[in-house]
Amino acid sequence: MNILLLGSGGREHALAWKIVQSKKVTKLFIAPGNGGTASVGENIPIKADDFEAIKKFVIANCVDMVVVGPEDPLVKGIYDFFKKDKELSAIPVIGPSTAGAQLEGSKDFAKAFMVRNNIPTARYKSFTKETLAQGYGFLEELEAPYVLKADGLAAGKGVLIINDLKEAKAELKNMLEGKFGNASATVVIEEFLSGIECSVFVLTDGKSYKILPVAKDYKRIGEGDTGLNTGGMGAVSPVPFADEEFMKKVEERIVIPTIEGLQKENICYKGFIFLGLIKVKNQPVVIEYNVRMGDPETEVVMLRLQSDLVELLEGTANGTLSGKTIEIDNRSAVTVMLVSGGYPETYENGKEITGLENVKDSIVFHAGTKIEAGKLLTNGGRVMAVSSYGKTKDEALARSFENAKRINFDKKYFRSDIGFDL
Ligand code: AMP
Ligand code: GLY
Repeated sequence: MNILLLGSGGREHALAWKIVQSKKVTKLFIAPGNGGTASVGENIPIKADDFEAIKKFVIANCVDMVVVGPEDPLVKGIYDFFKKDKELSAIPVIGPSTAGAQLEGSKDFAKAFMVRNNIPTARYKSFTKETLAQGYGFLEELEAPYVLKADGLAAGKGVLIINDLKEAKAELKNMLEGKFGNASATVVIEEFLSGIECSVFVLTDGKSYKILPVAKDYKRIGEGDTGLNTGGMGAVSPVPFADEEFMKKVEERIVIPTIEGLQKENICYKGFIFLGLIKVKNQPVVIEYNVRMGDPETEVVMLRLQSDLVELLEGTANGTLSGKTIEIDNRSAVTVMLVSGGYPETYENGKEITGLENVKDSIVFHAGTKIEAGKLLTNGGRVMAVSSYGKTKDEALARSFENAKRINFDKKYFRSDIGFDL
């Protein structure tokens, strides 16, 4: 099979690493890819949301399957684009239809979906410019802190958690007046939930499903979960508090009702579902849906997935997932993200990366790198995810931290407390 993987981050390098381990793969293309994906497949200089260029490439190169890494192409409708095109309709796209992608593309849609399907989530209401006064009223009903969410995609920045009521009202107005552009033309206000979070990944063919290893990511830039939010500074799998009893509740109360809800509502969904969960008084509650794998969670989930990913993806595409088995490595897997100094605010690209040859017993997934004139250079805030196995998470973490020190670039930073709260 020839596979085209869309995206360019650490998630895509981890997916690519796993995909090429399959005997079924003849050729893997990654568009646009990064300095790391170039070593497992062929990078193609096409943007992940340039559908016309993707179409031409898929036809010219006899691509048999398209795997979509990031949410953008999904929310923009790549699944429907393929299905509606005579030349492309037989080529499977791993990801939801445009309607299914609304689970991530519209927080208001996702919340209403959960309410309709009795899936536990924080109490909420949605507001627009026209209903600003009611929005103020709803904020007054709630207790601090206040959670305000832009309805649409806002590059991970659209959620504000505010302690002060007056400030929350001012931010609601700002958001509705375009703080996040059109993405915040509708704002979801919800009850604040207190608990510990984890990420559960489900692969579905629309009828049956497989649950992948659970992971926990670390979003803040600073140690002890302090400072600004980032795209993710590290991840750990498994997650001790997401034990068998908790995961049983996740399956019964969240996974099954989600798949059944999609079916009932005639929403075509053949791909990954990412459940952002919070454990409140021992019960799982959905914070958000994403319609793709997580980053950096993929950099640990792929390490623990022993089954052939391509076989699972084939089952996803042709509706035979129920006949596939999923085998999981019992070891712990962790990843530690090396980032550019200054990230998530301003930082410089183009720093030479050295020392990779000294890495021992870790797998390094590139996130923001590129190769120029034979040199490996930084090309993003998150640069590399240093991933390791261990009998315990601490053993795995020790390996990742050791190797994180062996890789060098100007102003390198990483969190040395990943997993501290587990
Ligand atoms: P989201 O983009 O919906 O994942 O929100 C980003 C982050 O905000 C989440 O990972 C949570 O840490 C936090 N968050 C979102 N909604 C809530 C909530 N209702 N209560 C507490 N924290 C929340
Ligand atoms: N790690 C969170 C995300 O991928 O959105």
